[in-house]
Amino acid sequence: MKHKIALSLLAADFLYLQKEIEMINNSEADWLHMDVMDGVFVPNISFGFPILEAVKPLLKKPMDVHLMIVEPQKFIRQVAAAGAYLMNVHYEVSPHLHRTVSAIKEKGMKAGVTLNPHTPVHLLEDMIQDIDMVLLMSVNPGFGGQTFIEHSVEKTARLKDMILRKGLHTLIEVDGGINMETSRRLLTAGADVLVTGSFVFNSPNPVQTIKELKELTVNVDH
Ligand code: DX5
Ligand code: ZN
Repeated sequence: MKHKIALSLLAADFLYLQKEIEMINNSEADWLHMDVMDGVFVPNISFGFPILEAVKPLLKKPMDVHLMIVEPQKFIRQVAAAGAYLMNVHYEVSPHLHRTVSAIKEKGMKAGVTLNPHTPVHLLEDMIQDIDMVLLMSVNPGFGGQTFIEHSVEKTARLKDMILRKGLHTLIEVDGGINMETSRRLLTAGADVLVTGSFVFNSPNPVQTIKELKELTVNVDH
């Protein structure tokens, strides 16, 4: 399967949100990645449902919502109403993960489970069959523009092994510090979706940079 690019809105210019969404629509980006932060689970606050709602009528791509908040299960209805295609909740704030994932799917969304850099993939051994995507954080969540954590490559490979061993088709998305070089290594390790923010928005020609990320090819035997 050809890999997907999920563009993170966090690095966009919020003063010109309409222009940024039009750029995304006209690019080869597959999804728009929306980072919602609460200042409790992560040490930063980004944006919430009013921004998701504002973007919804203009956006022509599926919305991939990454909730970096405590008690994400309380907001399933709002995330669905905002038009999300996929809702990601963090493992670290989900004591009843199976119930949360079931509720997300009942609302017609795909369910993603996110792991912080320190959270091992083996904790998903008894859950992976019920989730559509695992989102691996390759930086500590809360800020764009951080340095890629090298261990994420090996972690991606181990998660891929688990998915293949069980005969599943769960997607692996990786988020944080994505550029051409880290993308190549993550795709080789088995990543399916790459989230990218500052690398694209800080480049001279974001549409061209997205195209180059999409055109990356690697040799993989899975
Ligand atoms: C970080 C967010 C990321 C962030 C990635 O907490 O989850 O989605 O926007 O930004 P870059 O690509 O700049 O590392
Ligand atoms: Zn994110």
